[in-house]
Amino acid sequence: MSDKVYPVPAEWAERAYINADQYRELYERSVSDPEGFWSDAGKRLEWIKPYSRAKNTSFQPGNVDIRWFEDGTLNVSANCIDRHLATRGDQVAIIWEGDNPNESETITYRQLSERVQRFANVLKKHGVKKGDRVTIYLPMIPEAAYAMLACTRIGAVHSIVFGGFSPDSLQNRIEDAESSVIITADEGLRGGKPVPLKKNADAALAKCTGDKKMLVVRRTGNPVAWTPGRDLWLHEELESVSGECPPEEIGAEDPLFVLYTSGSTGKPKGVVHTTGGYLLYASMTHQYVFDYHDGDIYWCTADVGWVTGHSYIVYGPLANGATTLMFEGVPTYPSASRFWDVVDKWKVSIFYTAPTAIRSLMGAGDDLVKRSSRSSLRLLGSVGEPINPEAWEWYYNVVGEGRCPIVDTWWQTETGGIMISPLPGATDLKPGSGTKPFFGVQPALVDDKGQLLEGEAQGNLVILDSWPGQSRTIYKDHDRFEKTYFSAYPGMYFSGDGCRRDADGYYWITGRVDDVINVSGHRMGTAEVESALVSHPKVAEAAVVGYPHDLKGQGIYCYITLIIGENGDDGLKKDLVAHVRREIGPIASPDLIQFSPGLPKTRSGKIMRRILRKIAEDDFGNLGDTSTLADPAVVDELITNRQNKRGAA
Ligand code: PRX
Repeated sequence: MSDKVYPVPAEWAERAYINADQYRELYERSVSDPEGFWSDAGKRLEWIKPYSRAKNTSFQPGNVDIRWFEDGTLNVSANCIDRHLATRGDQVAIIWEGDNPNESETITYRQLSERVQRFANVLKKHGVKKGDRVTIYLPMIPEAAYAMLACTRIGAVHSIVFGGFSPDSLQNRIEDAESSVIITADEGLRGGKPVPLKKNADAALAKCTGDKKMLVVRRTGNPVAWTPGRDLWLHEELESVSGECPPEEIGAEDPLFVLYTSGSTGKPKGVVHTTGGYLLYASMTHQYVFDYHDGDIYWCTADVGWVTGHSYIVYGPLANGATTLMFEGVPTYPSASRFWDVVDKWKVSIFYTAPTAIRSLMGAGDDLVKRSSRSSLRLLGSVGEPINPEAWEWYYNVVGEGRCPIVDTWWQTETGGIMISPLPGATDLKPGSGTKPFFGVQPALVDDKGQLLEGEAQGNLVILDSWPGQSRTIYKDHDRFEKTYFSAYPGMYFSGDGCRRDADGYYWITGRVDDVINVSGHRMGTAEVESALVSHPKVAEAAVVGYPHDLKGQGIYCYITLIIGENGDDGLKKDLVAHVRREIGPIASPDLIQFSPGLPKTRSGKIMRRILRKIAEDDFGNLGDTSTLADPAVVDELITNRQNKRGAA
């Protein structure tokens, strides 16, 4: 923790939408009169039929029911495109920067309108109707945004699957969502290397049941396998449809998208976001947290496969008529100066990235930053995991040259938008702290028994009442939604994060307190990695925990018991890493594998992860009570193994 404070610069307090007094006043109103506050805020969207009431929500056990603006109707694509045409038709909506620095494109709002309508007609032509799910498995190319907006045009529900997921992961998500149309590309390009998206999608569809259509974007032009009748080239389909597709009238509480995310148990869950509240919240947070003004060039480096890409590359910025930059590549290609070169090339003024990227670029040395100008930058943002104060200071001093406030934004797939963050004209910064809640957000800390903690405290982070961007349910499993988020502390939304509140009321997220780990800002359930490991024929049992990792934030530590007669050697370790990559995707690659003849279990057979976590963190002195273990000797053996390994390293 750092106790440094960076006060709001005077010019920010003056120029930003919200200064400290306005924050206090508006926040107070947002929690004392949520109905009035959100009814007013809802006017930032264009409604087809206006709502008569903003909030109708309950967190009560057995009756968790969240509705916002429920009798209003609107269309997301009309809000993100059509309403801007009269005033900013020729303004650039999307700047696309390719993986190859020589490839780029700018797309105006008018062009976006034409492309989205045509795309929507292709979906219609292939039978997609309001409420149908469409799976999108695309690289970071403009077609990803067109596909999302085309779905919203006709009320279809998109489910984006990150391009780094394996065929099996894709298949599970297609089947759970019951999508009949899959949109992909021949290949993606990252760091100069092709990513075989069509091949993966073929492998996924080979295992799916039911009739499917695959719309394929031609990105690299390299040859791909083709299933006639099922596969369709998007560019050919676009020629066969009209360029006009009027927006459908969609209910505020109709689903907008499903996005699969990892939890502590079972398969990834399809987090459902609905239309009105989500769009309002994404748009409002984008405007105030990033203090977006006309003329800004805004760049969020996330992938549209994650929620950050949904809310802060596409929906929030476009609802605000912003210019949003979409980057296909990686931070280190062709060199570790790429981010800063792109900032200079497009005169980016607002830059939003993840701590893992900041740490890796910090490791590459200051010279790679300093050879760029970065004079266009005025605000920096961070998201996805706690940012350590060293990385914060480097981001602030080296990248931002002490000139740009940093907004450290805490939120989750389930929250739809930013929940805790500084507002740059209102909040003094403390490196490593998400600082204060956004309007309408009521964070609180509870102990393990659910007792609310007052003042300076450390505990589990809960939210006491609903906000418009909140997820409404888990796709096809409302019961799981209630159990996951509302049963630990009845009447409150439980985030799964631990958190500290300091004497100034600032929030400091300490990381997950459940069996979810955060690897390079990617959220992963340890149970998913375990089930991939035990599907290997030589593995009898596996337990996976996170451990501190200098670059990734957390690394994946796997304790493995082999079936009798098998030997754990380096060859098998490699094989297991390859196996997990195949099962889930490269983002789940184990960092450390420790073979062990046994795992610490309670007498009822439950693996004691708390102990495994401590061993992985080299915190041997703090193992806590081991007396309930069936065989306490297992722990000594694990520690000896771990120490030997460190000695060898
Ligand atoms: O642990 C928190 C961490 O990321 C989790 C949410 O992951 P996901 O749903 O994938 O969404 C990531 C992007 C919004 C949280 O439970 N997290 C996210 N942002 C921060 C963070 N931890 C600390 N500080 C943050 N700014």
